[in-house]
Amino acid sequence: MNELAQRTALKNASGGGSSWPPSWNTMPHGISVGRYIDPAFAALEYEKLWSKVWQAAARLDEIPQAGDYTVYNIGDQSVLLVRTNADTVKVYHNVCPHRGTALGEGSGTFENSRIMCPFHGWRWSLEGQTQFILERQEFRGGELRDSDVALKEVHSVVFAGFVFINLDRNPQPFDEFIAPIRTMMENLAVGEMRHYWWKAIPVPANWKVAQEAFFEAFHVPATHPQLEVRGAKVVSGLAPETDFVDFTHRNVVYEVFDKGHGRFIGGKKTPMQGHVSDMRADTLLESMAARLSLLVVGMDAQVLQKDVDVLLSLRGKPIPEDSSLGGEYIKALYKQAGEQQRPMPAPTPENLGMWGGEVFLFPNVMILPQAGNAMIYRVRPDGLDPDKCVFEIMSTTTYPAGHKVERAVVEQVTDLQDPEQVLLIPRQDLSNIPRMQKGLHSRGIRQTWLAVEQEKIILNMHRELDRYLHAEA
Ligand code: FES
Ligand SMILES: [Fe+2]
Repeated sequence: MNELAQRTALKNASGGGSSWPPSWNTMPHGISVGRYIDPAFAALEYEKLWSKVWQAAARLDEIPQAGDYTVYNIGDQSVLLVRTNADTVKVYHNVCPHRGTALGEGSGTFENSRIMCPFHGWRWSLEGQTQFILERQEFRGGELRDSDVALKEVHSVVFAGFVFINLDRNPQPFDEFIAPIRTMMENLAVGEMRHYWWKAIPVPANWKVAQEAFFEAFHVPATHPQLEVRGAKVVSGLAPETDFVDFTHRNVVYEVFDKGHGRFIGGKKTPMQGHVSDMRADTLLESMAARLSLLVVGMDAQVLQKDVDVLLSLRGKPIPEDSSLGGEYIKALYKQAGEQQRPMPAPTPENLGMWGGEVFLFPNVMILPQAGNAMIYRVRPDGLDPDKCVFEIMSTTTYPAGHKVERAVVEQVTDLQDPEQVLLIPRQDLSNIPRMQKGLHSRGIRQTWLAVEQEKIILNMHRELDRYLHAEA
């Protein structure tokens, strides 16, 4: 369906009494499939969600120097994020007031601290003030004011290393929006995380289908069998369910918050804390190293080689009676970070419990912290097509004092099944997602079924989405 047809569908859908078909319903135990496949629903999301909600448009690492810019696109809207000085970022609608040319594409640097339109060369300061208009006397009878053609600002807030934007003229206060997870994000030092690598992957699926694949941990035995060997045997029928299996997801605690946010907590029974469900070698240390290495090789995020090296440095060292391998490992990680003056979240039980967990920031960002690193996912619709989205993975970490961090560059992935472009673990996740989208179009399904605990973040997200969609204009 083209854009016009989608808008017409939206108009029809939102007019009259039958404005909300049953195929759009969120139910206590499932989600109606129309929410994932209906172009009119996607159009309604643009009208009521994306035009109103605070959304993470950039990381500060993308625009480290004055004059640096990057463009964020959502639906048919485009905004230009510009670093004006060391402390300030401004965000503008990405359009020249003269005849509509987009002022920026991708990312780059505005030379000589001015924004210039490539068409006729009109110019603005980085702060958006009009500086030059060619043949100015020809406009508005020679009375054109600078303010007539100043750049139009978009509301923005910098928080936790993100630039959040809101396309609404009178947006809800950012503080209210972020309040349920503000302290958690601050404590996890998300703002200290800096660019390691970043990939953008076009995925043939609805943006919600894609992100919901990361809202729970109970897909791990089937989707990532290498991470839970014994659990994988049970789910694939190779071992009886009566066998004792220490499924990791049974140790995970899910929480949902106001404003659609949520999190899950890895707790203490995670490989990082010395709990390995499969002994892969003779000793616990080697088994733990082997398990953590699967994350290094399979993801290059959350756990990095430098973290495994710290674990291996404990080889042959005795574990004090009142401690454990996990406890000693965490001590060693923090000792090294201290020596390197590398920022780390405080080692509180709360923060350590989030290693192996996730914070979900409504509507579309997931942060998976671990050992002073974080993998961040961002998912957004790609144009107006409900069957397409862009899935981004940002691997971030903190660096030792004095380390120069490169400007973040987003690599474009062209094939989500290419092992050269996408590492094993995200490739396993991404292989399910287009299949889910295909299945959701089937006449054999009307709604999904949701697990009350394992999938509660999905339900909470949809309820908040409905709050936006039902709001008065
Ligand atoms: S369209 Fe930008 S200067 Fe003419
Ligand atoms: Fe996964």
